[in-house]
Amino acid sequence: ISLKPYNTFGIDVKAHQFISVQNEEELLEILKRFYTSELFVLGGGSNMLLTQNIKKTVLHLDLKGIEVLDDQPEHVLIKACAGENWHDFVNFCLDHNFGGLENLSLIPGNVGTSPIQNIGAYGVELKDVMVYCETINRQTLSKEKFYTEDCQFGYRDSIFKSKFKNQYIITSVVFKLSKNNHQLHIDYGSIQAELSAKGITSPSIQEVSDAVIAIRQSKLPNPQEIGNSGSFFKNPVVPNSILKQIQIEFPEVPNFKIDENTVKIPAGWLIEKAGLKGFRKGDAGVHSKQALVLVNYGTASGKDIEKVAKRVQKEVKNKFGIALETEVNVF
Ligand code: EPU
Repeated sequence: ISLKPYNTFGIDVKAHQFISVQNEEELLEILKRFYTSELFVLGGGSNMLLTQNIKKTVLHLDLKGIEVLDDQPEHVLIKACAGENWHDFVNFCLDHNFGGLENLSLIPGNVGTSPIQNIGAYGVELKDVMVYCETINRQTLSKEKFYTEDCQFGYRDSIFKSKFKNQYIITSVVFKLSKNNHQLHIDYGSIQAELSAKGITSPSIQEVSDAVIAIRQSKLPNPQEIGNSGSFFKNPVVPNSILKQIQIEFPEVPNFKIDENTVKIPAGWLIEKAGLKGFRKGDAGVHSKQALVLVNYGTASGKDIEKVAKRVQKEVKNKFGIALETEVNVF
């Protein structure tokens, strides 16, 4: 079976065997039958680059369901199963006037993978809204809950990417969302501008979501039209000395203070200044409106994309002395 429909890069690699599970019972059944090393776990396929055929059995997590666990006057606890599409779930919450996820609108992928890399956009991260996630321990097959404080969340990082990599399967995520008195996060520059342009002064959560969607659509390619995995690299955190050096040639370099000694510099800016924005080789390239995103214009292979990624890393390293780390998992 081809995995092309199952990864947002649209890479056409084959899987040796493909099993889709719709609920926890089916999932446990498969986990009992196979060793951990025999399975390749696939969620929404939105954060991966497949560079070769998968010789393992692909386990597609298609667990569905959304449930309000606790309905209070001010907030709800709401649970979404791993296989729910992230943006559909955000829309479900907006339709019910549950606030908290609006800044995370239009992020590709499924609910179950959202904690792994602590998805974030426009000033909000998953860790700000999640209460706990439910998992199955792949060794013991027992159910384990991870509260937010147990997950070691960081910028695009969690315990599921480090210490417990490949050791747990997230089956659902539980969020605490507001029912009124929504705490809006609209200080992120372009959101304000987007709202002001429409003359909106006290926005609803739906209007914040609409603004985020408009911003994303203006620079991020739609995976249904052009294959991609969102940001391919992380924004690097570097010592102040590196920033000072860059400022000699580019006084305008955008940067965000992390602590006394370090700053974060947008990787998209570095790639653009390295001259690679819009770079294209065959069907693999660097997006022309947001240089942090690598794209598949049609029939690029995973290896073609990987080559472009390496080229980007090399040029940025040469020009700025900064080693870009990939955000996307390369297999
Ligand atoms: N920039 C450029 N040229 C580019 C791209 C960016 O100069 O081609 C500079 C601009 O100065 C811009 C700044 O970089 O102001 C920041 O750009 P942007 O607001 O697009 O955000 P980003 O840092 O490139 C991050 C996330 C995105 C998220 C946005 C908004 C990472 C790796 N990426 O991108 O996440 O949507 O912020 O919060 O942190 C994703 O993870 O897939 C993703 C899209």
